[in-house]
Amino acid sequence: MIPHEYIEELTRRTDIVELVGGYVQLKRKGRLYGGLCPFHSEKTPSFYVYPDTQSFYCFGCGAGGDAVTFTKKINSIDYVEAVKLLAQRAGMPEPTEDDKTGRLRSRILTMNKDAARFFHACLNSTVEEARQARAYWRRRGLDDKTINRFGLGYAPDDGQALYQHLRDKGYNQQELDASGLFKRSQSGRIYCLFWRRVMTPIFDLRGNIIAFGGRVLDDSKPKYVNSPETLVYHKSDTVFALQIAKRSASHRYVLCEGYMDVISMHQAGIDTAVCACGTALTPDQIKLISQYADEVILSYDSDEAGQKATLRSLELFRNSPVRVGVLQIPGAKDPDEYIKKYGADRFKALLDGVGNALDFRLGRLRSQYDLKQDAQRLEYVKEAVEMLAERSNPTEQEVYAGRLAEETNISKTAIMAQLADAVKKAGSKRRREQDRARLQEGEMNQIKVPYSAGRGALGMASAEQRLLAAMLREPGYIDKVSAQLRPEQFLQPQQKELYEAMLRCREQGVEVSLATLRAFVSEEALNELSRLAAQYSDVNCTPEDIKLYLERIARGTPVASRAASMSTNDIEQYLQSMREQKQGTADAEDSV
Ligand code: UTP
Ligand code: MN
Repeated sequence: MIPHEYIEELTRRTDIVELVGGYVQLKRKGRLYGGLCPFHSEKTPSFYVYPDTQSFYCFGCGAGGDAVTFTKKINSIDYVEAVKLLAQRAGMPEPTEDDKTGRLRSRILTMNKDAARFFHACLNSTVEEARQARAYWRRRGLDDKTINRFGLGYAPDDGQALYQHLRDKGYNQQELDASGLFKRSQSGRIYCLFWRRVMTPIFDLRGNIIAFGGRVLDDSKPKYVNSPETLVYHKSDTVFALQIAKRSASHRYVLCEGYMDVISMHQAGIDTAVCACGTALTPDQIKLISQYADEVILSYDSDEAGQKATLRSLELFRNSPVRVGVLQIPGAKDPDEYIKKYGADRFKALLDGVGNALDFRLGRLRSQYDLKQDAQRLEYVKEAVEMLAERSNPTEQEVYAGRLAEETNISKTAIMAQLADAVKKAGSKRRREQDRARLQEGEMNQIKVPYSAGRGALGMASAEQRLLAAMLREPGYIDKVSAQLRPEQFLQPQQKELYEAMLRCREQGVEVSLATLRAFVSEEALNELSRLAAQYSDVNCTPEDIKLYLERIARGTPVASRAASMSTNDIEQYLQSMREQKQGTADAEDSV
């Protein structure tokens, strides 16, 4: 079997639109792409590719699946051949069918643990540079408990000490090369990427050390050196300190910019502080955080870069199920500095009074205008009103209209009137866009999308199908769903199978996608899932929708779920008793 990590990597590196585009002339329509099906002959397009789920489906002949399915079918080759071909295309080495990669991965993990121990021991040694490193952490306000909790350390000046240490422990050259811990100088000498730096290990969710960040002790550059991507470290889906935060009783996360902010916050008792690792926040990290958090407070640096990053992250969080707040840090450049200057309690008070995303947006907007000038004041109100019309609910509108009135000295009545107008416009604009999109997809799919039939009309089977499609698109929902829905509650066996496969992926820490689900289900089931992804590609999957689907399934299941756990005999008895009960009520009614 090809290891799931390999398939995950292949999935990451393959873009199905680009792949299919090499064979089919695709035309973009909204979030999807359509063209003439390469698997049956047709004159009008009924073949679609969906970037969201990395799937394709033909409404004409029912062919569907992921990049691997497509490669298999188009070349008439088997699974392993298709994976090899895609790997070649993506510039990956051939998959090894024995688990060599798996073994190397676990060697790197133990090596990282040994390296972390080494750095930690160096920090505690008696030499002068170690004393300086300890003094550095102290200056930053960290106590021993925090240092131990985060496994902090020190990489000594001698760039070869770690190399020798790990060689002595029996790691071979291939393993040392793959660890990302070492570099080769031009003369061929091997030395550690980190030297004369205080060290912060980076953990994965299972508590493995997968990388390091090393900071200089002074103001020299670069401030941080970070591990490169390796077999065990993928920056874009790693969240620093999430392995601690996920065990917290609180589901209110604080997302900041730097390692130091996170570490200070934890020391101050905020154990849900996390950050990205030396990169801007990615959609994968948002998905990951959304699996654990109900609320995320963006707590970036107070400089312009931090504020820009806040706006960017707000956009990224727009489709996530979590609530988002924005913390402004007055009188300090970052949370770490704030805590040091004003203490943990004041920082926590700041957190409790956190403003919402709207406050933040309005604040940004206001700073662009000089409210003393009439023309600018009017312009500000106009922009603010448009923003509120698009992004707030009626209660919020009421509150913010009041605030706007105070700020600008324009009457609240006038602002409310303007707002009502803007809401109407925004509403009809949204409806027009939706209608257009639906029309387009309706035409494209040559099917009627039943969603507009209204929420009440949602059937149980349809709720199941939508739920599966939503979970494929946003695997972050799977954990929440699994807490409320057992596989036995599914009506259709194939969909039950798909749901079970998703649960197993999550359990084993495998990313959920068509490509990885293949390890657990038949190609037919995959085909079914790609059909659902296609059919429901335009269906919303907000947390409210998910809740609605779950409620619908829960309402519809008492009999079905009981039936699933009964033997045929039991079912027969159960039905009989139902008939008798009915008879009983009928009798009773008769006798009245
Ligand atoms: P900051 O400069 O805000 O770092 O960069 P910090 O963690 O607060 O560090 P202190 O307080 O100055 O000690 C935010 C994050 O950006 C990444 C690191 O992940 C850092 O935590 N970064 C920054 C780098 O990767 N390299 C750099 O040279 C600088
Ligand atoms: Mn900082």
